[in-house]
Amino acid sequence: MELKQQIQETVQYIRRHTEMRPTIGIILGTGLGALTKEITQKVVIEYEDIPHFPVSTVESHHGKLIFGKLGGKNVVAMQGRFHYYEGYTMQQITFPVRVMKFLGVKTLLISNAAGGMNPHFQRGDIMIITDHINLQGDNPLIGKNDNTLGPRFPDMSEPYSKELIDLAEQTALNFKIKVHRGVLVAVQGPNLETKAEYRFLRFIGADAVGMSIVPENIVANHMSLKVLGFSIITDECFPDSLKPVSVEEIIAVANKAEPKLTSIMKEVIKKI
Ligand code: HPA
Repeated sequence: MELKQQIQETVQYIRRHTEMRPTIGIILGTGLGALTKEITQKVVIEYEDIPHFPVSTVESHHGKLIFGKLGGKNVVAMQGRFHYYEGYTMQQITFPVRVMKFLGVKTLLISNAAGGMNPHFQRGDIMIITDHINLQGDNPLIGKNDNTLGPRFPDMSEPYSKELIDLAEQTALNFKIKVHRGVLVAVQGPNLETKAEYRFLRFIGADAVGMSIVPENIVANHMSLKVLGFSIITDECFPDSLKPVSVEEIIAVANKAEPKLTSIMKEVIKKI
């Protein structure tokens, strides 16, 4: 079945469950799901009930699409995202972004946990993503292009909205929350990087490294959505003083930093 037909069937299914017309889409990273608790007048749909949605490979991980109000706006949030390292295709990972666009979303807010390679970054810091490098070795736009969805060769001169970056930075300043600006590089994972890899990734111009956001961003740009992205720096990836890190520590740091990010995101949503 053609991609567009799949999107339309999915949208029809969702429309039967909620009349709400979201204008803002939210995808939250590992350990960063608390923002969804602040959504009111919720309508929740399980991924497994949504036609054409990827089915979770991990049993314990029940994905949900949450519709409701946040900061006075109609939003749709993904509770549980799909990662390339889980074995999904790039097309599967990014299908929800296409559905969001067809539901009326204009702006996508997205976050992840990432390793900090810029020596000015500390664990628990927030980085507003200004640009990215795709080192995932794949691309969600490979294959036949539907010109009614977006162009064959999308422009990527401003993949993260300059206006929204400024708004997020100003909001953080008002709240006295320290934020950095920086470049995210996306790798496949699931292993963390070697010292030599961190040195290489820093050398090519990245400030932080993660395993998500980039595919969703590419599809958002393909469909002319504005994107605002945040990385929480969960571990310090300095090759000359690298220490072992576990996923438990990464999640603990993300959880601890989450309230800062939640308050920035909520305020940004109000002001969009
Ligand atoms: N590398 C890749 N992804 C990550 C890291 C890292 O060091 N930390 C959190 N996500």
